Formats: sequence, C-alpha cells, structure tokens
Amino acid sequence: MNFRTIIEPFRIKSVEALKFTTREERASALVAARNNVFQLRAEDVLVDLLTDSGTGAMSSAQWGALMQGDESYAGSRSFYRFDRVVRDLTGFKHIIPTHQGRAAERILFHTVLHPGQIVPNNNHFDTTRANIEVEDAEARDLVIAAGRQPSTIHPFKGNIDTDALEALLDRDGDRVPLVMVTVTNNSGGGQPVSLQNLRGVRALCDRYKKPFFLDACRFAENAYFIKIREEGQRDRAPREIAREMFSLADGCTMSAKKDGLANIGGFLAMNSDAWAEQCRNLLILTEGFPTYGGLAGYDLEAIAQGLEEVTDEAYLRYRIRSTEYLAEKVVAAGVPIIRPAGGHAVYVDARALLPHIPPLQYPGIALVNALYVEAGVRGVEIGTVMFGQHHDGTETAGAMDLVRLAIPRRVYTQSHIDYVAEAVIAVARMGSSLRGYRITSAPKTLRHFTAEFEPLA
Ligand code: F0G
Repeated sequence: MNFRTIIEPFRIKSVEALKFTTREERASALVAARNNVFQLRAEDVLVDLLTDSGTGAMSSAQWGALMQGDESYAGSRSFYRFDRVVRDLTGFKHIIPTHQGRAAERILFHTVLHPGQIVPNNNHFDTTRANIEVEDAEARDLVIAAGRQPSTIHPFKGNIDTDALEALLDRDGDRVPLVMVTVTNNSGGGQPVSLQNLRGVRALCDRYKKPFFLDACRFAENAYFIKIREEGQRDRAPREIAREMFSLADGCTMSAKKDGLANIGGFLAMNSDAWAEQCRNLLILTEGFPTYGGLAGYDLEAIAQGLEEVTDEAYLRYRIRSTEYLAEKVVAAGVPIIRPAGGHAVYVDARALLPHIPPLQYPGIALVNALYVEAGVRGVEIGTVMFGQHHDGTETAGAMDLVRLAIPRRVYTQSHIDYVAEAVIAVARMGSSLRGYRITSAPKTLRHFTAEFEPLA
C-alpha cells in the first residue's frame, strides 16, 4: 500500500504553550512596537514565522548530547566531535566554529577583502551584504533572470548566471577575491541551486583561479531539491549529494541555526592554510579560542548531532513538503507568491498583492502588520525596507517586495500551517483596504530591525 499523507517524522515529547491574544491586544502591541514586528514581544505572537533561524526544535538526541558537553577552554572533546562531523560532511581541511553565520562572514570578509573589491553571489543575504560593504567592497547579485521573476516556475531559481559571472571575472577578475553561492538562495525566495550550476561555477573558478565559497546555511534542503528535481539524482542519498556540493567548493560560511538544527552556532570552513591562519587569529580576537569559537561545548554537541540528523531523508521529505503544502493552499486561493515554494519559507509577493501601495510606501510592511493584527502570525518583509536603503542616505525600491513566512524546523504541525494558510488568504482578501506606511525613524544600516513606522491615512 502507498499512503498519500506525509506525516511529521517525529512525535512530541515536550510542548510549549501558545498565548492567545485578541485583535485589540495585538493592535495595541503593534503600536507599542512602532509598527515594526521585530519590536514585538514574542509571547504576543501566536504562530511565529519571522525566521527559521535558531527557532527549530532540537531532538531528544540533541538534548541528550548537551549533557555530554565538555566545557574545557582548549581542546574540548565536544570540539573534536564537532570537527569530525563537519569534516566528514564537508571535506574541508580547516573547521572554525563561530557563534553564528554572520560571525563567520565577518571573519572571512575582514580577512580577505580590500576596499573596491567585488564579491559575486546568486543573492547576498542581508548580513552577508552588510559584512562586505563594511569593508568598502561591493556585494554583487548575479542570480539568473528567472530568479528575479516571482511567478516564473523554474526548478533551480537560485542558480547563479554563469555567463554574467564569466563576464565579471573576465573584465574585473583582479577585483574578485572569491566567488560565493548561497544554498538555498534565501533572499531570492529560498530557491535551490543545481549541481550542474555549482559545477559550472567550479569550472569558472578553476579557469580564473578564484576560491569558491558556499553560504551553506540551508545545504540539506538544497541537497533534497537536487535529489527530487535534478536529472540523475533521484537515487542518491541527500547526504551524498550534500557532500558533492561541498566538494565543488573551497570553503563555506555556515549558520548552524538553520540546517545545523541548533538554536545557536555556525562555522567557517576552508582548505586554504594561509587564510585559515589569519581567520583563526581574528577569531581569537572577537569570538574565542579556535576550539570553541564563541560557543559553549554543549552547543558544539548539539550542532554535531543536528548535522547528523538534518540529512535524514524522511525529515527532508517532510520539511520540503510542509512548505510546499502551505504554498499550494495560498496559491489555490489566488495569493501571488514566489513559485515554486522555497525550502524554508513561502514568500508572498506583496507588490503584486497590493498594487495600490507603491514600493516606497512599503507594501511588505502593510501585509506583515495586517497578518499580525488579524491573526497573530508574524512574517518578515524582504523588500524595500530591507534592501532599499543606500549608503549615501538615498532610498529606492527593492528588487521585489516580499513577505517571507519562514517555517521553523520541527516546531509547528499541519494544523498550525492550515491556520496560517487561512490567515494569509483572509488578509489577502482585505486587499485595497490595507494602507501603506512611512518611516519616522531609522538607523543608517540594516534599518529593517529597528525602523519605526507610521500608517498612512
Ligand atoms: N546567510 C544566509 C543565507 C542566511 O539566511 C543567514 C541568516 C545568514 C547568512 C546569517 O546567519 O543569522 O546565523 O548570523 N538568516 C536568518 C534569516 C537570520 O532569517 O533568514 P546568522
């Protein structure tokens, strides 16, 4: 017999109660948060889809591993377990733990970048971009054209445009210290990158003698997409595919808060002895000794265990399917989203949904705030507020105005997702009654976290 229903591949051992609030309570909580959902108290949120980062549920095996944590300052047993697991997965020579992904980015870029250089990527995540720009270098997005069109269906919308990459290396190669590709492509809709594309990047990097780094936060989800979508990959284990992805690169940055299935942690890994030595020196300055890198011994245990679990095929089938399930429901009701669904999130196209709100009145914020007030669901704007601010103080429309509904790993059940779908559809139907916003106060960079908003009349 072949059953259709894909069930959660776990049972629940410990639960955390949700707090129910009224619409009135949420409306006043949002005003107190200056209309920025980053400023809400999380307990006032019913279903929190702000991020899939650090919000996953650890397994009983991970909780058990915490007790095995060796808190020695130098040479802890937990580091050697972590090192062995990461090395076995990635094959890289130097494994440098960090407290999260952006610390790995900061250490890598501060070590290797010079002012005026260019780092190409499919799409840089916001912290990646900021860590490049702070070195007075340029973060250049080279995702394929389909990756910029929300409604175009393509199996690997995260692919980097290898022709554009070749043109850049040809013209300005001396200004490119390394090439990056983000798997899956978070800023472009959680879309995967194919093995064929990664092989193409490898070939270009060989030809132009450039190191190739993966931003590997969601490597396991990417590997599963390769398994189900790329020709000739169906019979391979996700772990085997993941290993091949890493084998094509010379290093990676990693946030273990995503596919490490941990609540905190990350690492920087690479083959270059010279870069690794410089990175470790900076690590000691800002993160800690190289055998803990800003983490407790028990964090290293949780990450090691999480990295063993995350490539499990039953887990990945459920993971990718739950996101697709939410997407199918909202698409059936006519809600415009990035298609196909991403691995970790559904991205609603707020610009298409709310055409009466121009980008500089932030349609993404209008949708995020309505979802919170009407249903207690917290999503995040990925659009003009996040990416429209420039160093010279000017502002332009972001490439897209999206609202990301990111699904924490192993946290919500199918009925939570049914509720979210109902909420998104109900708010989408409010359409033209939703209003735009203006910013009343904002910092100079990464404004989306702390900007204050006021609804327009
Ligand atoms: N790279 C990508 C592709 C990411 O999605 C993130 C984090 C990072 C790097 C930085 O990692 O948070 O551990 O410092 N993304 C989270 C998100 C915050 O909500 O998408 P970090």
